[in-house]
Amino acid sequence: MSILVTGGAGYIGSHTCVELLNIGREIVVIDNFSNSKPNVIYKIKKITGKDFKFYNIDYLNREDLEKVFEENDIDSVINFAGFKAVGESVKKPIEYYINNVSGALMLLDTMKKYNVKKFVFSSSATVYGNPEFVPIKEDAKIGGTTNPYGTSKLFIEQILQDLYKSDNSWDIVILRYFNPVGAHESGLIGEDPKEIPNNLMPYISKVANKELKELSVFGNDYDTKDGTGVRDYIHVVDLAKGHLLALDKLDKESKGLFIYNLGTGVGYSVLDIVNAYSKVNNVEVPYKITERRAGDIATCYSDPSKAKEELGFVCEKTLEDMCLDSYNFIKKNS
Ligand code: UFG
Repeated sequence: MSILVTGGAGYIGSHTCVELLNIGREIVVIDNFSNSKPNVIYKIKKITGKDFKFYNIDYLNREDLEKVFEENDIDSVINFAGFKAVGESVKKPIEYYINNVSGALMLLDTMKKYNVKKFVFSSSATVYGNPEFVPIKEDAKIGGTTNPYGTSKLFIEQILQDLYKSDNSWDIVILRYFNPVGAHESGLIGEDPKEIPNNLMPYISKVANKELKELSVFGNDYDTKDGTGVRDYIHVVDLAKGHLLALDKLDKESKGLFIYNLGTGVGYSVLDIVNAYSKVNNVEVPYKITERRAGDIATCYSDPSKAKEELGFVCEKTLEDMCLDSYNFIKKNS
């Protein structure tokens, strides 16, 4: 019995593959390297000392996808495949909807054909839009997304709800990630954006590593403790382990459709992150305060208690680990 991991060479996918292999699960990985590098597959094998089957295919290609189901005994699927850059999605909505929504549909329809009905989906806190309350619970209102990337996550969540309603023999977990950061402690895999990073932590890493001159802090006039945006940063290895717990739930106990926030429940400001990064790594992170970034919200952090109670999900890594591992990764990969 294997777990199919789509997008397994990507940032969160690769860390999840490592954790799955570490606990002895069998995986089959697909990726088309649209936003990742082929050597990640080799690195996953190097970290774990384990082998697995890999297919360089696009999940939109039905024939290729069916071949994977034909050739392997797949029992469940974790779907990481998808585009994820907020700004790019505004410029390329069709590409985002085709890849994320049509891709998910293609995958679900293929699963249906092969009677594979356990599905874990990578969603995002972005589905909460501008949250009415923090910390955010899973039953908070969703919607009000401000870009096609976020809306594609919202659409797929709705598709999964409709699918489950139509046939409750499906077992589905929707995981809403907050802000994944950090890297594997080996420094072999991590977040490796092809372009100038949009997200805070990889941008800071490039400044610390002197590849970029300074960080722009997008606004210091928010209603937060120091005026800068507050987010719930979660170490990618903790996040990866959350997928193992989600699969456990579907394998062992419960039947149904479940939704969990994966975050730490703690909010840090942009300046908290800058200061922690400089301190633990003993590096300069020059920054300047600039205008707010369009579409940003002041504060977003999770209430992680549902995932704790129902999955046993508890984050082990600290903010210091997040900063140390991010810097370690960039130093080893530049
Ligand atoms: N920020 C800066 N300078 C930068 C980059 C970010 O000041 O160069 C600030 C932002 O204004 C924000 C915070 O750092 O206050 C975090 O920004 P990120 O871009 O790292 O993350 P976001 O919270 O904006 O976005 C994340 C995910 C998205 C997801 C969104 C909502 O990257 O995929 O959360 O859940 F859609």
